[in-house]
Amino acid sequence: MRRPYKKYIRLFGRMTCLMLLFSVLTAGCGPFQDVVPEEVPNEEENLVVVGFSQLGSESLWRTANSESIQKALTRENGFFLEFSNARQKQENQIKAIRGFISQRVDYIMFSPVTESGWDTVLREAKDAGIPVILVDRKASLEDDSLYTAWVGSDMISEGEKAGIWLEEYLKKEGREEEEINIVVLQGTVGSSAQLERTKGFHNIAREHSNWHILKQEPADFTTAKGKEVMEMFLRNYADIDVVISQNDDMTFGALQAMEEKGITTGVDGDIILISFDAVHDALKLVSQGIINVDIECNPEQGEYILEIIRKLENGESVDKENIVEEKVFTQENVDEYLDTRTY
Ligand code: AHR
Repeated sequence: MRRPYKKYIRLFGRMTCLMLLFSVLTAGCGPFQDVVPEEVPNEEENLVVVGFSQLGSESLWRTANSESIQKALTRENGFFLEFSNARQKQENQIKAIRGFISQRVDYIMFSPVTESGWDTVLREAKDAGIPVILVDRKASLEDDSLYTAWVGSDMISEGEKAGIWLEEYLKKEGREEEEINIVVLQGTVGSSAQLERTKGFHNIAREHSNWHILKQEPADFTTAKGKEVMEMFLRNYADIDVVISQNDDMTFGALQAMEEKGITTGVDGDIILISFDAVHDALKLVSQGIINVDIECNPEQGEYILEIIRKLENGESVDKENIVEEKVFTQENVDEYLDTRTY
C-alpha cells in the first residue's frame, strides 16, 4: 500500500533521532526515558507506523501486555512502533496522542488509564484521518465513531465469574446461609478494570442478602498499595471472610499484610482469597492453595491487534469489539497451565 505521509515519516524519523539522543543524554532524569524508539524507519521499508500510548507499568499484567504488543508489531511484520509509557497519567496519554497526530502516524493505539475525558483528543485524531485502536481498557465516548476498534477483556464478566465462583464455593462448604463479610481491593479509580469488575461482582452479590461488602478501597493495582490497604482493612474489621483483590499485584501486597498478622488464606485458610489476572506467580499460589481462585485477564492482545491492522491495511472491515479469551483457575485445574504461562 502507498503511504501518503512519506514526508511526515522523514520528519518523524528526525524527531525520533532527536528524542533518542536527548533520552540518552538525560537518561534517568527526563520524560523521554519512557519513550522507546526503534531504529528510525526509512521510506523504502514502507512500514506501517503505529503510535502506542501504554498507560503505565504498574503490574506484571501490564508488562506482559506491552511485551505482547511489541512482539506482534515488529519490523519483520512490517511495523514501526513508537511506544510511550504514560506512567498512569491521563495528561501524559493525551500529550502522547497529540504527538502521534502531529507526526501523522498511520494508527494510534492506547490503553485508556480511566474511561472518561477522551472526546476532544480523539476528535482531533479523527479530524486528522488517523484510525484509533483502543487496547485493554475502554473509553466512555459521546461518539463511538471516534475509535475504529477495541481489543480487550469482558471485565463485567470477570467480576461476575468471581461472584459465581464464591456462590458455588460457599454452597459446597455448606456456608450458603452464613453471614459473609467481604472487603474489596479495587484498581485505579475510574478505570474500566475497576468499574466493570466491581459492577460484575455486584450483579451476583445483590442476589445474596447475607453477603456484606464492608469496604471497597482503591489500591491502584500495585503491590505496595495492596499491602497498605489490606493493613487498613485488618485494623478496621475484625471478621473478614472474603478478600477480593482486583489484580494479582495487589493480592501479593494483601498477602504480605495478612501473613504479618498470622492470618492464613485460601483452601484451608482463615480467609477466602479471590484474585484477578492469573499471572504465573499468582497461579503458583493457586496451586499451593493460598489463593482460592484467580479470574484470568488475558494480556496477550498483540496478535489480535496485528490481525486488525492487517485487515484495515487491506481495506477490509473489522469488528468494533474484540474480546480476548479467558479462563478461571482453581486448585483443580491450575497445574495443567502452570508450565506454559510465560508472564
Ligand atoms: O486493565 C487491566 C488491568 O490493569 C489488570 O488487571 C491489571 O493488573 C492492570 O494493571
